Amino acid sequence: MRKKIVAGNWKMNTTVAEGVALAKAIVKQKKEVSKDVQLVVAPPFTHLVPVAQVIEGSSVALSAQNCADQPKGAFTGEVSAAMLKDAGCAYTILGHSERREYYGETSEKLVKKMALAFENGLKVIFCVGEKLEERNAGHHFDVVSTQISEVLFGLTPEQMADVVIAYEPVWAIGTGVTATSEQAQEIHSFIRQTLAAHFGGKVAEETTILYGGSCKPSNAKELFACPDIDGGLIGGASLKADDFIAIAKAY
Ligand code: 13P
Repeated sequence: MRKKIVAGNWKMNTTVAEGVALAKAIVKQKKEVSKDVQLVVAPPFTHLVPVAQVIEGSSVALSAQNCADQPKGAFTGEVSAAMLKDAGCAYTILGHSERREYYGETSEKLVKKMALAFENGLKVIFCVGEKLEERNAGHHFDVVSTQISEVLFGLTPEQMADVVIAYEPVWAIGTGVTATSEQAQEIHSFIRQTLAAHFGGKVAEETTILYGGSCKPSNAKELFACPDIDGGLIGGASLKADDFIAIAKAY
């Protein structure tokens, strides 16, 4: 059975004190969530160590939102995969559309980041998704398959076991507009077929594929009921423990 994951991407929100309080509330309410669901929180870099202390011993896992494309040294302002591991991270998000759009994150950079994440024992939540104009032009399948092939096709099937894919249509992120469950299922199924064609059926069947983009308690159940949707990458609604837990309880 594929792992089900509900991950909260806090983006650039919360103070340390607020983040610690949010993590504490999530740990407290976690018992309401099915044991089959892995909860992940991805706070800002400055919060990783204090949040790691809060979630230690619980089954909630820690993720970073990004990592450097270099291992160490004179790269002012960057945080390496080794540092993230040392801070207590099990995962890092890579390739979020906000990083692609605002910080020039290319597939070439993502290949380097992914290699460093693996070298340091991190799993990767790899984000893909098309912009509105790309969907309107009917190019969404091409965009997503290119994002996947450029970064993931260089990996071994063993490395794919440490990759979670998050499909996040850019037009649904932070807009309140969610993909319909039909739209999401269609592209999740396509992603799985894309993986199957390259890696074979076993990798495709075992890869967790999350949906992200205005996922909230009111729509999580319908999205998570789709056969190829294995959980969610949650932005805005992950900043309130009650909403985050309610989404995870959709399973
Ligand atoms: P929202 O849930 O706020 O739309 O954000 C989704 C997202 O980008 C998660 O990475």
